[in-house]
Amino acid sequence: MTGQSLIQKLPKTELHLHVEGSIEPQQVIEFARRNQVDFPYATVEELIAIYEFENLAGFGQVYRTNSTVLLTRQDFYELTVAYMRRVRLDNVRHVEIAFAPQGASSRGVSPEMALEAVLDGFEATAAELGMTGGIIVGCQRNRGLDDGLKMLEQVRPYRDRIMALGLASMEVGYPPRLFERLFNEAREWGWKTVAHAGEEGPPEYIWEALDILKVDRIDHGVRCDEDPRLMARLAEEQVPLTVCPLSNVYLKVFPSIDKHNIARLLRAGLLVTINSDDPPYFGGYVNENFAQCQTALGLTDEEIVQLARNSFIGSFLDEDARQGYLAEIEAVVAAELNPIAEMNA
Ligand code: ADE
Ligand code: ZN
Repeated sequence: MTGQSLIQKLPKTELHLHVEGSIEPQQVIEFARRNQVDFPYATVEELIAIYEFENLAGFGQVYRTNSTVLLTRQDFYELTVAYMRRVRLDNVRHVEIAFAPQGASSRGVSPEMALEAVLDGFEATAAELGMTGGIIVGCQRNRGLDDGLKMLEQVRPYRDRIMALGLASMEVGYPPRLFERLFNEAREWGWKTVAHAGEEGPPEYIWEALDILKVDRIDHGVRCDEDPRLMARLAEEQVPLTVCPLSNVYLKVFPSIDKHNIARLLRAGLLVTINSDDPPYFGGYVNENFAQCQTALGLTDEEIVQLARNSFIGSFLDEDARQGYLAEIEAVVAAELNPIAEMNA
């Protein structure tokens, strides 16, 4: 069978997605008009002409400019709903969506209002589409520890509706160890924890995220292959890595998709997953990331299936729900990869 249809048929999760980064260019223009924002680009064409990034910092500038159109409850609600409807078409069944309240605060937008809208949008759409998942509240590391602690206090009223704490934004110069107190507090609340590390930052940041922040999962983590001891540990402990292949190419972490190390990490026994990060900026949603990796890196059908399994294994689903999704994957495998064995069974 062709790779595309296997990828489509497999149930999958998305574990690394910034909801503000899921804004489509048409939505940027529409929200700017609706909110009467003095925005530098009038059309989709003008806007997407600037979607060329030297690195994470260059991307961050465009991301922040586009985020200035996100002002009202309706904006955050519609953004979340649109993302979930879109990925459901990729047969993504479970989503763990990151939202950064500090980004809203920095623009004079109420972080509580924005978070509530994201939570409402997620909960309503999960019920409507039969999806599972949750919201990860992301700390923006470039704003420092004290601002992160303030943000955590602001979201306290919503703590039972939130799944995890994350750590994102500019990596280099903001090592995970600076955020130990924040992560201790979140863990005491019963939250899961994740952190971006080893995207542009060195392997030491992955060690710190594991040993000091005690995270359950690493976002990106692709620079682990510079450190054989770290590779061995990640394989041994089966620490999930939420890899975003197309993001890594657009942000020049790898020069092209055929140079990406995800196949090597998978074959070394690491628990890698495929995610989209900020899909409209990086050329595709989850299935596009799977398809381009399969074509460029020669992933076998069995490896594609393993990546779909990994996406559930690395998720924060409870064990029963996880096993239910994994059984659905095995049913697809039986029907699509072993049709003769199935017929004779
Ligand atoms: N925020 C949105 N996308 C990001 C990325 N790729 N790395 C760090 N922070 C981000
Ligand atoms: Zn990210």
